[in-house]
Amino acid sequence: MHNIGSYNERLNNFSWKIAEDELGYKPGDVINIGWYCSDRICNMGKGEKLALKWEGLGGKAKNYTYNDLRQLSNTIADFLQKLGIKPEERVCLFLDRIPELYIGFVGILKSGAIAQPLFSAFGEDSLHVRMENSGATAIITQKKHLGKVRKIVATLPNLKHVIIVDDNGKNPLQDKEVAFIMDEAKRVEVFESFPTKAESPSVLHYTSGTTGMPKGVKHVHYSLISQYLSSKWVLDLQDDDIYWCTADPGWVTGTSYGIIGAWACGVTQCVNDIGFSADAWYAFIQKHKITVWYSAPTAIRSLMKAGEEVIKNYDLSSLRHLASVGEPLNAEAVIWGEKVFGLPFHDSYWQTETGSIMISNYPGMKIKPGSMGKPFPGITATILDPDTYEPVPTGQAGLIGIKPGWPSMMRMYWNNQEIYDAKFKNGWYIPGDRSYIDGDGYYWFIGRDDDIINTGGHLVSPFEVESALIEHPAVAESAVVAKPDFVNMEVVKAFVCLKPGFIASPELDLEIMNFIRKRLSPLAMPQEIEFVPSLPKTRSGKIMRRILKAQEWGEEIGDTSSLEDD
Ligand code: WT7
Repeated sequence: MHNIGSYNERLNNFSWKIAEDELGYKPGDVINIGWYCSDRICNMGKGEKLALKWEGLGGKAKNYTYNDLRQLSNTIADFLQKLGIKPEERVCLFLDRIPELYIGFVGILKSGAIAQPLFSAFGEDSLHVRMENSGATAIITQKKHLGKVRKIVATLPNLKHVIIVDDNGKNPLQDKEVAFIMDEAKRVEVFESFPTKAESPSVLHYTSGTTGMPKGVKHVHYSLISQYLSSKWVLDLQDDDIYWCTADPGWVTGTSYGIIGAWACGVTQCVNDIGFSADAWYAFIQKHKITVWYSAPTAIRSLMKAGEEVIKNYDLSSLRHLASVGEPLNAEAVIWGEKVFGLPFHDSYWQTETGSIMISNYPGMKIKPGSMGKPFPGITATILDPDTYEPVPTGQAGLIGIKPGWPSMMRMYWNNQEIYDAKFKNGWYIPGDRSYIDGDGYYWFIGRDDDIINTGGHLVSPFEVESALIEHPAVAESAVVAKPDFVNMEVVKAFVCLKPGFIASPELDLEIMNFIRKRLSPLAMPQEIEFVPSLPKTRSGKIMRRILKAQEWGEEIGDTSSLEDD
């Protein structure tokens, strides 16, 4: 039997109190996500149950029980406190998918500080903008990433501590650096989690903006209510499940469902840091007997590409529920899942700002392949006219609108009230996506309402890439757009005008690509650079990415009346 039972019945009798009661929380109580993910599960008698089964490259493996998770997160919280880190200070996690990332996240929350996860493939510029903006006082990292951190330390006046989790004592540490070896540290048996309340800040995730630099999305401890309930009702997490969320905690899926939801439900979760290959992934499922698998369309399309033959080498019969998030899930991918695993992928739609799943396909509910499903109980969504922000009739396309007020909704863009306010129109929160609702109430995704590129489920801001491009000595100006791609759905393409004296060449092409990869990240790196003599601009001088994008997608260019000397 599925946790959600009947979706329609849940809609009729819904209150967030259902989750509050299950978690034993009453309004006004202390609520600390770190405590809920570890101590509470131990208090329920599950201390010896495995919380984390981890695998790294070269056959490395580590297991942690809930009791280990409780003690080690205590140890980290205690360490942070003794360093002098105060509640609500930002502590960055700049780590590969190693146990310290997951357990460190819980420890930071227990200490009352705000966890700020950063994708470990970020280059120094991406790292710098996000840390400067948040004013983080500490960063937890690994030796392999220390080079990037050292480059920017001097430019971050608030940064007081660089904590290295795998320091071997061989090389001298620099100013502000301190070693912390989690598995060898003296364990702290008792640590009083900081008494955070519902509205105390918990997590700060950075997400790409259309026109400006990345924005810090501030979440609070009360987000647990949504994350817990959706883990139960959408991912269907049950006591004996072995769960695998493939997302990196540098992004919101990896924290909301790759840490908080999983551990608040007390399930055993598996994590690997082995990269992607169809064989490695299937072997991982087989070995750990994964039952619930939450992944992303790009990964699913890569598996489809690898073919069905490879699946025959593995016993994947442990799987019982599959879900997906991050980008449009093609109907073919849903149907493929059914064919090869005997199970469909359940698409789910949400974003960093919403903190938890907003629209989804539920276990037991009929799936229309290609549709995102229906709003989570307690979520009021609609489609709005893009000009009036009034709801449109069924079947008509428009902007998704969500009634504010669910527990895991962002509380602010870090230090940016103005941009936050601009996300609300006519009483609705506007995620910035276009969609329509069919006669049965199912939502169908159309596209984003801005220029942001969604590459493999990761948002990349053209503005950020263009800003980095003009720092290259050869680049005069550029326009960055999405280009279609089978696996990643979209990849970054840059149109570049060179400065006088520079000549386009394959070497320069490669050099510019690497420049972006190093400064920003492999995700933001253009997969293609086209050197052009000029860029299409409006009369007021704004680059019209829309025209270049339409060209890439073979679409009608549309209204060009504002185009310069046309
Ligand atoms: C944007 C949010 C929260 C998951 C990780 C991404 C797009 C997300 C779907 C889906 C079509 C989707 C939207 C959204 N998106 N899920 N099921 N179908 N598009 O979080 O980085 O904040 O990105 O990803 O455009 O606004 P994010």
